[in-house]
Amino acid sequence: MKKKLLSVLMSAAVVASLLAGCGAAAGTAAPAADAAPAATEEAAPAADAAADTAAPAASNGKKVAVAMPTQSSERWMHDGANMKEQLEALGYEVDLQYAEDDVQAQVSQIENMIAAGANCLVIAAIDSDALVNVEAQAKDAGIPVIAYDRLLMNTDAVSYYATFDNKGVGTKIGEYIVQHCGATPDAPKTIELFMGSPDDNNAHMLYAGLMEQIQPLLDDGSLVCKSGQLAFDDNNTLRWDQQTAMKRCEDLLTRYYADEDLDICACAYDGLSYGCMSALEGAGYTEANWPMITGQDAELMATKHIISGKQTMSIYKDTRLLASKCVTMVQAVLEGAEPEINDTEQYNNGKIVVPSYLCEPVPVDKDNYKEVIIGGGYYTEEQLAE
Ligand code: GAL
Repeated sequence: MKKKLLSVLMSAAVVASLLAGCGAAAGTAAPAADAAPAATEEAAPAADAAADTAAPAASNGKKVAVAMPTQSSERWMHDGANMKEQLEALGYEVDLQYAEDDVQAQVSQIENMIAAGANCLVIAAIDSDALVNVEAQAKDAGIPVIAYDRLLMNTDAVSYYATFDNKGVGTKIGEYIVQHCGATPDAPKTIELFMGSPDDNNAHMLYAGLMEQIQPLLDDGSLVCKSGQLAFDDNNTLRWDQQTAMKRCEDLLTRYYADEDLDICACAYDGLSYGCMSALEGAGYTEANWPMITGQDAELMATKHIISGKQTMSIYKDTRLLASKCVTMVQAVLEGAEPEINDTEQYNNGKIVVPSYLCEPVPVDKDNYKEVIIGGGYYTEEQLAE
């Protein structure tokens, strides 16, 4: 019950922030209100307010079903809202559903979407391997499937993939660490890695990009990982879960950093950064010995942490852009239009190489957040000051 209330409050808060923040720049107001299925009665005022602002275009009779992983992370709320808004603007009917990181719930949702007569499925998977059967069902029913941000693995039922350059995310986090940590063989720094979910292809690609950058510094002794947990199998975080990262960080601090500070938390996602921050605070870290902490998604809270100095950097991924690329793919499969593709090599899902559009991830820190994030209309100065 408590959890549901929290979810409702969070949903309402995100709706409010979307209304305040992206409305002018991205026009996300109306979809944000509808993007929160858990926010029923309590969030109704926000939904009503939003409904007044943008009436959807007349239906073109086609239904697009969008399956999203979770409302517990701010970014997926933005993604869902942007997809809904942009599809509705083209006259599609949209069935947007979140599965709260429950793999089986997502399978059931997609089954129901197929049964309800969806013309196209857009899926951001929780577990990219777990949807093989339901994707085959869609294919049998003649329903095209588009992978949203996370690659759908081991299926030939997927037509296109819209994402960010996932290896590039890791490369940019790695480059940032190399350029800013100041480690040398004579003055080494300690580092621990907090990587993403093993059932998400993005996490593996990010890890590969990151390791390529930091490996030379590990080899020459500039960077030292005292736990030795450098292999992805040892440092991944199932479901990108904040609590799991917090517990692992607590454990590492106790076991390996009793006598020496941890200097760098290489986190693959803002949620993991928050987990590390709690562990570090609990272990008594202060401004004087606070480590460099990386992240991904440039969530509102992470951006505030960047301003306050608690988080060092994040990777900004403009979800409005991602949605717009994905929408061109929906149009391609439904209207026979030509979607823009810029990668036909990297994304082999085990069955086929999926034609993809990779958006560019942008590193943000205290020096460029104003230009990139505020200038880009993603958050307003007021939102970041609250
Ligand atoms: C990944 C995505 C990241 C982050 C993470 C947790 O698939 O690439 O940007 O959002 O999921 O939600």
